[in-house]
Amino acid sequence: MSLPGPKKSKFDIAVIAGDGIGPEVIAEARKVSQVAASLDGAALEWVEYPFGASHYLETDEILPESAISEMGGADALLLGAIGSPLVKPGILERGILLTLRFAFDQYVNLRPAKSLPNVPTPVPLGAKGMDSVVIRENTEDLYMGLGAVSDLTGGSLECPLDLERGGYSMRGKLNMSLAPAMPFAAQVAVSTGHGVERIARYACEAALSRGESRVTIVTKSNAAPALYGFFEDTAKRVIDSEYPAVKWDVANVDALCYHLVRNPAAYGVLLCPNLFGDIVSDLQAGLAGGLGTAAGGNIGDGLSMFEPVHGSAPDIAGTGRANPIAAILSGALLLRHIGLPDAAGRIESAVSDYLASSPPVGMPVEFGGGSSCVEVGDAIAKKLNG
Ligand code: NAI
Ligand code: MG
Repeated sequence: MSLPGPKKSKFDIAVIAGDGIGPEVIAEARKVSQVAASLDGAALEWVEYPFGASHYLETDEILPESAISEMGGADALLLGAIGSPLVKPGILERGILLTLRFAFDQYVNLRPAKSLPNVPTPVPLGAKGMDSVVIRENTEDLYMGLGAVSDLTGGSLECPLDLERGGYSMRGKLNMSLAPAMPFAAQVAVSTGHGVERIARYACEAALSRGESRVTIVTKSNAAPALYGFFEDTAKRVIDSEYPAVKWDVANVDALCYHLVRNPAAYGVLLCPNLFGDIVSDLQAGLAGGLGTAAGGNIGDGLSMFEPVHGSAPDIAGTGRANPIAAILSGALLLRHIGLPDAAGRIESAVSDYLASSPPVGMPVEFGGGSSCVEVGDAIAKKLNG
């Protein structure tokens, strides 16, 4: 949905290239996005930020408040990957990735999975024609950080359930005891009207913009009727009452995984609670061709962040072996989000054209070819120009 008025032609894009192969793949994503946007009459101004493991090790700084508010003024954020074997896992994930996700209330995790020409897949016949997208609720469910482990002798557990969110605040307490006493743990999953309604609307808009009229609600309401029954019923209500052109169907997550492996091309928009979306989107990425092509976005009403699904791949950093296609396709998602759908489509076609026409030796190293990260980026940029 865009507001009427003169079409914007200049965009500020914040960039965190990050660590390892992050800067290598982001350089190619920028190159390709720049050409595609300019063919559409738009200019991209890149604003670079140094955050990541290297910056943290040099300066002790993770992500200052001032940078978060400055980034909030950008039209979108492109992120490479963050992480290094030299930094304890968790520090930067929480300090940068999760902080940005919460600061900008990025409630959608967008994970398309599309089969691409000549990309090796584990189910070669089945994955042909795959073109689905996981719309994962990104703020609720089992991932709210509400839980505790009892002491080792066990018996009882207390845990505050207090939370401040963009759309609501929550107050409460978990107070449990077990007899006979034994160690135990509990993690609380919450689903709210606010959370489900907005992700259901996003899924419907996504279906309509793909020219489709179906949203598959991914659930497990037979086993967890309160939590996933609520998700399912709320999503159905939004679709029925607000989107007459969209129909829903329902898939239990276990059956969905089974059918996805056997017939990945059968699905379009998959509307998922947080936990199922996390798992199903990785399954889809594996089916469609792996980390080298899997792109994603974390989207909210404020700053949205687009990134390849892969990490910083320290094992191949600096060797030129990184496949930039996932980052380049993340650039396309970014351009579509800021209102340049033609530029986004051009990039997606250029990636397909390159893969379809490349001789085996010209394919990315990941797919058995000999093209370096820069060479793959150049070849895709060249396809954009026709
Ligand atoms: P990874 O995704 O970095 O690498 C897994 C395997 O896939 C490696 O063998 C790597 O060489 C290969 N690979 C990944 N991307 C590739 C590409 N574009 N082209 C060719 N091969 C590619 O995951 P890993 O090894 O578990 O994590 C490495 C670091 O990345 C860790 O510090 C981790 O915390 C971080 N990480 C960061 C993420 C982010 O910034 N959003 C996401 C995932 C991991
Ligand atoms: Mg994951």
